[in-house]
Amino acid sequence: MAHVLVTGAAGFIGSHTVDQLLAAGHTVTGVDNFRTGRRANLAAALTSARCSLHEQDVAAPGALAALVGATKPDAIIHLAALVSVQESMTNPDLNYSLNIHTTHLVAEAARLNGVRRLVFASSAAIYGDATDLPIRESSEKKPISPYGAAKLASEAIFLGHGAAFGITVRCQRYFNVFGPRQDPASPYSGVISIFDRRYREGKGVTIFGDGQQTRDFISVHDVARANVLAATRPDIPSGVANICTGRSTSLLEVVGVFARHYPAAPAVVLAAPRTGDIVHSLGAPEEAERALGFRATVSVATGLGELIAAG
Ligand code: UD1
Repeated sequence: MAHVLVTGAAGFIGSHTVDQLLAAGHTVTGVDNFRTGRRANLAAALTSARCSLHEQDVAAPGALAALVGATKPDAIIHLAALVSVQESMTNPDLNYSLNIHTTHLVAEAARLNGVRRLVFASSAAIYGDATDLPIRESSEKKPISPYGAAKLASEAIFLGHGAAFGITVRCQRYFNVFGPRQDPASPYSGVISIFDRRYREGKGVTIFGDGQQTRDFISVHDVARANVLAATRPDIPSGVANICTGRSTSLLEVVGVFARHYPAAPAVVLAAPRTGDIVHSLGAPEEAERALGFRATVSVATGLGELIAAG
């Protein structure tokens, strides 16, 4: 069994990753500053004797290195980040600090303390508005936001450290993740989290465009499992992989599932497409299967059903 340090442990993806690490018998040291993470997300995890949580800012100089030195994890899963693409546009300095400089601090904490493996939360945002689908790991990297640029730079920082200092590095390029605990607070939050909240509150939803746009929606449970594999599977090489399903789902299909569960909900409103929106996004999932033995198993219908039932 491994000891894994998770940054951003109380966040959406972090808390599910912690849950699955514990369920698999591993020990977890969680770190979060609760900027966007929530302690309640770890309520179940914190009942385990194998889980500890440290309220700490990963960006604070020396703080993470000290914790890694004191706890000596086998692997670090680095999920702490400025998670909003929109916020990276309005505050590029903060994006630089949290999504680039902090990556370097994590890589250094690993190097200085002999951590053998690093897993990084990368994003399909590194591909920008790619139109040649499905997107493969070899597809052109063309970020169109400070957020996407920072994710691409961070991959390079981790991979460079890995190659130089003998650390196995896995960069996980998440596509459109959805599921319980995703924060619907901003209009730019993940569309499924926004729809879930609005239907729950008896309100109608707005689709920007005609609803034919498609995304590769992946359940957070699959994403967490991919993280556990990347951090703990023996004898895997360093590398990058899309974490996606390889299946397209349109917004109309998503709304269709909600509408069946909420037959009395107001009709969907169609509004003008958002500036900068991409029409289709779809990942190729083969590399994650080859490198990690990971294949997504939760369908969008099943994942939405779970979300709606979670209440
Ligand atoms: C993701 C980012 C977004 C970024 C874009 C860059 C997230 C949550 N979103 O957007 O910030 O600019 O990559 O490629 O990381 N939609 C509606 N109604 C709503 C909300 C959204 O119709 O109330 C639509 C959007 O216009 C879009 C689709 O739903 O067409 C999916 O939106 P979103 O969940 O934000 O994902 P991305 O478009 O992939």
